[in-house]
Amino acid sequence: MAFPQNRLRRLRKTEILRNMVRETIVRPDDLIMPLFVCPGENVKKAISSMPGNYQLSIDMLVEECKDLVSHGIHTVLLFGIPESKDEHGHVAIGPEGIVQRAIVAIKKEIKDIMIVADVCNCEYTTHGHCGTIVDGDVDNDLTLETLASQSLSLAEAGADIIAPSDMMDGRVGRIRSKLDENGFTQTPIMAYSAKYASAFYGPFREAAESAPQFGNRSTYQMDPANTNEALREVEEDITEGADIVMVKPALSYLDVIRRIKDKYNVPIAAYNVSGEYSMVMAAAEKNWVDKDRIIAEILTSIKRAGADIIITYHAKQMAIILKKQNQ
Ligand code: PBG
Repeated sequence: MAFPQNRLRRLRKTEILRNMVRETIVRPDDLIMPLFVCPGENVKKAISSMPGNYQLSIDMLVEECKDLVSHGIHTVLLFGIPESKDEHGHVAIGPEGIVQRAIVAIKKEIKDIMIVADVCNCEYTTHGHCGTIVDGDVDNDLTLETLASQSLSLAEAGADIIAPSDMMDGRVGRIRSKLDENGFTQTPIMAYSAKYASAFYGPFREAAESAPQFGNRSTYQMDPANTNEALREVEEDITEGADIVMVKPALSYLDVIRRIKDKYNVPIAAYNVSGEYSMVMAAAEKNWVDKDRIIAEILTSIKRAGADIIITYHAKQMAIILKKQNQ
C-alpha cells in the first residue's frame, strides 16, 4: 500500500496521539550531572565558559546535590580541583583527596544519591596530562598504577561507580583486579571507551583547571575520524570487565553510539560535553535558539542514537523541562 491509502500525517494529528507513538523518551533517571569540587568553604565560583556551572567547595557541593535530588536527578559525576598538584597525580590518591572527602560528605547527608567518580590524572598533575610523563609522552604502564590506586581509594571513600577517562590501554582490567583484590567486586566500572581528542572539551579545561601544559592528548585520545577503532576500544574494555561503555563527546559521534549499540549488548553512556553545552548556552543567551526546546531535542537525539545514559550539564534543566511537559 502507498499514498493515498497511506498517510503518515494521520498519526501526527493530535498531541495525545503523538505522545502515544513517540519512540524515544528521556527520563531523569537516564541523566548524570557532572560537578566540580574545589577546596575551601562557602565557595561557589562561576565557570565563565559554562554559565550555570560552578567550582563548589564541599559544603556547597552537598547543597547542590540535595537540589539535584529534589529535581529528580539522582546521579552525579565528580571532578576534583586539588589544593596542589604533582608530577604523577599522587595527590588524587588517599582519603585526604578532594573527591574522596567530597564523597564522604555527600554520603553522610544524602541517602538517595549515586556517585560516579571520574578517574584520571590530568586535574592532579603539574603538566596537565593524564598520566606519568616519560620522554615527553604519557607512559601507559606506569600510569595504570596511579589509576588503579586512585580508583581503589575512591571506592574506599564510597564511590558507587568508577569511571576511568584517561584512555590508557589495559586500564579497565588493571582497575578491575585492584578493586576485586580489595573486596570491591560489586563496584561497577563505567569506562570512557571511545573518547576522542576533541576541541569540545575546551570549557571543561577551564572548569577543571586541567589543560595540558605542552602538546595535546592525541597520543592517547582517539582520532575524531575513526569509528572502527572505537569498536576495538569498546571490545577491549568489555573483555577487561567494563560494565558500561561510554562515547565522548556525544553530538558529533552519534554514529559511533549507534554502531556500538548495534554490535554489543552492554549499557552505553554518552557524554554531552562542555563545548556542546556552552555552544547551546551562548546561542540561547543571544536568543538565537529556544533553549529548552534545543536541550530536549539534543538529549532525545543522543538517546535515539542508542545511549542508555547521558552525562550532561543540562541535567537539572532537563528535569525541569520534563516536569513541565508532564503537567
Ligand atoms: C579528562 C576529562 C576531560 C573531560 C572529562 N574528563 C577532558 C579532557 O580529556 O581533557 C571533558 C568533559 C567535558 O568537556 O565536559 N579527565
